[in-house]
Amino acid sequence: MSHDTRFASLMSHVCRDLRDRYVCASAAKRIALSCGFTSVEASQIAVCAAELASNAVRHAGGGVLHLRILKDAITGVTIGLELRCEDEGPGLGDVDSALKDGYSCGRFLQPDDTRREGLGMGLGTVRRLMDDLVVEPKIRGTVVTARRFASAPKRHAAGAR
Ligand SMILES: Nc1ncnc2c1ncn2[C@@H]1O[C@H](COP(=O)(O)OP(=O)(O)OP(=O)(O)O)[C@@H](O)[C@H]1O
Ligand SMILES: [Mg+2]
Repeated sequence: MSHDTRFASLMSHVCRDLRDRYVCASAAKRIALSCGFTSVEASQIAVCAAELASNAVRHAGGGVLHLRILKDAITGVTIGLELRCEDEGPGLGDVDSALKDGYSCGRFLQPDDTRREGLGMGLGTVRRLMDDLVVEPKIRGTVVTARRFASAPKRHAAGAR
């Protein structure tokens, strides 16, 4: 989905350890509710904010999560919310695999994998819960941008992700 948008930046939180997930999740939920998302939708957006913060901390040594309200460029009406997480870590590598459930730290997890740290489901969950997900490799690091729009028929359509 493409929109002619302008932004209202609301928060940038430096994520250094896993406690920062809670800060990001609670801010995302509060802002999502203030944008008119339902409490279920706001909770889903909060989970995604926590996941992006978690990835920045666990896989990139930290990062910054930016929360922005998306507004229609002409009317100024709020049309959605953006989570943008920037880090200067080693990079995501194989993005297609990273988006698949069960892929974590460079391999597809087996049930008896004793080295597993996560489920490998975080990015896939962000993709399912948000309307847009863009992963941009940088010369050093990664930028992950996820957007949720106030009305997105695609999300409710039969066969949606
Ligand atoms: N910001 C990042 N920088 C570098 N690699 C990343 C980043 N985010 C994700 N990855 C890579 O993509 C993989 C998949 O990420 P994903 O969030 O789906 O799973 P996970 O973090 O391993 O586990 P889970 O999120 O279920 O706890 C990660 O294991 C990691 O290898
Ligand atoms: Mg993760």
